[in-house]
Amino acid sequence: MSNVLLVTAHPGSSSHSVSLGMADKFLETYKTNNPNDTVTTLNLYSEEIPLIDGDVLSAWGKFQAGQADQVTAEEGRKVARLGALSDQFVAADKVIFAAPMWNFGYPPLMKAYMDGAMVVSGKTFKYTDKGPQGLLTNKKAVILEASGSHFTGTPIDAFTHASNHLKGILNFVGIQDVTVVKAEGLAQSPDKRDEIIASANTQAANTAASF
Ligand SMILES: Cc1cc2nc3c(=O)[nH]c(=O)nc-3n(C[C@H](O)[C@H](O)[C@H](O)COP(=O)(O)O)c2cc1C
Repeated sequence: MSNVLLVTAHPGSSSHSVSLGMADKFLETYKTNNPNDTVTTLNLYSEEIPLIDGDVLSAWGKFQAGQADQVTAEEGRKVARLGALSDQFVAADKVIFAAPMWNFGYPPLMKAYMDGAMVVSGKTFKYTDKGPQGLLTNKKAVILEASGSHFTGTPIDAFTHASNHLKGILNFVGIQDVTVVKAEGLAQSPDKRDEIIASANTQAANTAASF
């Protein structure tokens, strides 16, 4: 039995979002094939994802200086929330991400989640004399991404910071088994939109079948 976490970074719903629609198709197949697994959805747009702001930096500084008693209630609340989010990420055996491409990256709450919950020194990676080492081995991940342009195999492929960034972070924390499924060219090729969505949904379901 696996503990599965779906992280969505979209303010909308799957009736309008291609990436969330892919997540629906993925989960449909996954749950059919793995009825005893625990699947939790973390919607980054409906739950509190603290930014690493002045409160968080201040709290970390106080903890490091041995002044935990001076951490304010608000600072402590934000740090505890980030701790709970990273605990949830670390506890997952398999993680699925679904997000649209926005300005070559992902919506900002995905960055907040990467910063606050995924890249945590001593918890998801550690520094060694040979360089940083990821601590989350034996996990796998899938990234479901939708974009208006078509990037793969084109001269603008180097601009796909979205999944490249997230995949890099996953690899950094030790998760090497990462599959990326893309619905590309949704705005670029409006006449092929339905075809692109159908193909991406099929790829998402096929990936779920062997996840
Ligand atoms: C704020 C915003 C920024 C976007 N930036 C990009 C972009 O940089 N590259 C791109 O190919 N598409 C871009 N798009 C188009 C979306 O990636 C595309 O509409 C995709 O279908 C969104 O996924 P969704 O259907 O899950 O919302 C952008 C859309 C929005 C709303």
